[in-house]
Amino acid sequence: MSSAPPADFPADFRFGAATAAHQVEGDNVHSDWWEAEQAGRLPHRSGAACRHHALYAEDFDRAAALGHDAHRLSVEWARIEPRPGRIDRAALDHYRRVMTALRERGLEPFVTLQHFTLPAWFAREGGWLAADAPARFTRYAAVVAEALGDRVTFWLTVNEPTVYAKRAYAVGDWPPFRHGRFGEARRVVAAMLEAHRRAAAELHRLCPGARVGIAHSAPFVTPRTPATLLDRLVARLRDLVLNTLPVRSARPGLDWLGLNYYARQLVHWRPRGTAWLFGTDWTGPDGRGPRRFSDLGWEIWPAGLGAVLRRFAALGLPLYVTENGLATRDEALRVRFLLDHLREVARARADGVDVRGYFWWSLLDNYEWAEGFAPRFGLYETDYRDCTRRPRPVAEVYREICLTRSLAAGERRATALAGTEA
Ligand code: FCB
Repeated sequence: MSSAPPADFPADFRFGAATAAHQVEGDNVHSDWWEAEQAGRLPHRSGAACRHHALYAEDFDRAAALGHDAHRLSVEWARIEPRPGRIDRAALDHYRRVMTALRERGLEPFVTLQHFTLPAWFAREGGWLAADAPARFTRYAAVVAEALGDRVTFWLTVNEPTVYAKRAYAVGDWPPFRHGRFGEARRVVAAMLEAHRRAAAELHRLCPGARVGIAHSAPFVTPRTPATLLDRLVARLRDLVLNTLPVRSARPGLDWLGLNYYARQLVHWRPRGTAWLFGTDWTGPDGRGPRRFSDLGWEIWPAGLGAVLRRFAALGLPLYVTENGLATRDEALRVRFLLDHLREVARARADGVDVRGYFWWSLLDNYEWAEGFAPRFGLYETDYRDCTRRPRPVAEVYREICLTRSLAAGERRATALAGTEA
């Protein structure tokens, strides 16, 4: 009798896709992003986005049909608290229906409380730099916990504080468009992490079964020329600022850690400015063969995911890959990306790393912030003329893996699909 080979992923490993409210819902009119879009301060308007606010049930049908058993999404603070202290009960009722719709389809909700956008009033009052920002956020978290706590176990407080601070306060191309304000960026990260810790305590108090995490942007940072001491030093420093310190500060509020992983960052010393810390350093020779990039110029580096998982395993917390995906119009590359990154997750698991789930970014093409609608990240292709969605080949490959828990089955599916297209 032949026994089946061991699965790459156990039955209780969570597979799903991730989205964020402003990027998919549409008409997020009370948010700081919407205001900036209308004022022409951002190059693209989100408009109706993917109309997911109306179409969520059919989108969850799609996710369930793809064999997913979990789904990451965010609730929109600007909808729930459109004016200070004024809670919109209809908005909360909407999100109760959303959570019910997920559960009815066997999709475990992973709910982010804040994913980059802020209520316009909160932004006007200083955003994360206001003295009472963490307290305000904690009150909002309590409102959501009370409304959704019977339907949600897995919470993410905030999404990617370091990315937000970098774009909004250093690069300055996201609201509130503060360029080169490194001191402010540092204070914003600190405030968001304080808000995370306080909200986590509140979630635990109100929902004793809550499992609280954060979505940490976890780039794989490495020196461009390892033989060069200065390159090694700046890589160490950048990694300290972008990975070590924020996760250490988030730790007291964590039952698990969410890692958003996309790319490798090669870093080299530059004599002037702060580009070594905040600048992107995607190009340049590294002597390690041909390099591949996403349409956004992010370097594809699957081994980086394995490295990041192993490194954060030392925390002793369950890990989830809360985002991973590729902006491309090359479907074969996207399929390869999925398989190569999932292989890294399986290898890390085989080495004893406690990774419990994986979320592809994203379920469908959506509004990619300052880059607008051009980048294509979806399992589903969105046709923005009429908001119809069409599954891409990658969705089928991922489905095969979700259903069989086997990477070999995914590889076979990918080969068969490539054969059909040839
Ligand atoms: C992450 C964001 C997410 C999406 C992806 C591509 O940094 O969390 O909203 O934009 O990048």
